[in-house]
Amino acid sequence: MDYSQKISARHWNQPDKGEREAAREQTFIDDIVQKSHIEKELLANLAGIKTVFDGGGGSGRFSILLAKHGCNVTHFDISQPMLDKASELAKAAGVENRITFVKGALEDLSAYKDHSFDLVISFDAPVSYTWPNQKNVIASLVRICKKRIMISVSSRLGTLPYLANPLNKNQFILDEDCGDPWVTWCISNYQNAIDGFSFHKTACMDVLENGLMGGAAEIKEFESGKAPWPITYTFLPDELECILRENGVKNIQLAGPGAYARTIPNEILRKIMHDPAQKSAFLEFCHIYDQNPYVCGMGKDNLFAKGEI
Ligand SMILES: C[S@@+](CC[C@H](N)C(=O)[O-])C[C@H]1O[C@@H](n2cnc3c(N)ncnc32)[C@H](O)[C@@H]1O
Repeated sequence: MDYSQKISARHWNQPDKGEREAAREQTFIDDIVQKSHIEKELLANLAGIKTVFDGGGGSGRFSILLAKHGCNVTHFDISQPMLDKASELAKAAGVENRITFVKGALEDLSAYKDHSFDLVISFDAPVSYTWPNQKNVIASLVRICKKRIMISVSSRLGTLPYLANPLNKNQFILDEDCGDPWVTWCISNYQNAIDGFSFHKTACMDVLENGLMGGAAEIKEFESGKAPWPITYTFLPDELECILRENGVKNIQLAGPGAYARTIPNEILRKIMHDPAQKSAFLEFCHIYDQNPYVCGMGKDNLFAKGEI
């Protein structure tokens, strides 16, 4: 097993992961924007879809949504805490009988026959955690798909600005007093992040050329028993489109969820989020703006792609 998979498994199997992942949209605005984009895409593309494979389904944000719309979903994830949380939320939503929970790694989808599912989804970067097997993983996701595929992976062009902005997450805090440990850390670490920052062109060039975030340092941390952030492969838009096309996917459309929101300061974003009418109008506009291929890759750290088999 590759280090990437071992590191990802340990990271996502930390006991609080399910709970924390399920609360992301209560704490961070970039998560609201990104999930809203995906939700709009899913709901607009459900015609003829009965069976769904959700690869790296996490705490069930989209498998539960699709089950509520009558789909039968296979919710597949490497993390037991994620599966437990998703199962709890599915029960609370009354759709547990429409979801099959499976623990497994995307690197091995041999249990599934070709064209097993009408729709295959994998959102918020599970594929990016499978480096160096990301191409094979995409090929397997396409292989088990009958009609439509939608995935979002880490975007190289969206990740690079993070290397020059240690305050990126502060821009998206929804409520400073919510008590979430990550929010509290972002606020208390604000000045340290500025003081400790210096721009490293070599590091940026390295990610631009190789696409890889993390490596030797994460392996060392893992070997010493810690649970570092997974090694992450970031894709260029053309590269993702090319891999999908090589695997027979047609009518490919890319998007960069979060590109518009990224241009707006935290104070204004929060004002919009706290007014339901503005929030809904804003998320509708973000969805339209972020679909433009010219902003593709600029959004958050997610690059979205959909296509037909
Ligand atoms: C950021 S979460 C996204 C969850 C969900 N798709 C969503 O959009 O809300 C990433 C998920 O990928 C899962 N994951 C990471 N590496 C994986 C792998 N190699 N195989 C299967 N799942 C994996 C994690 O356990 C986690 O639940």
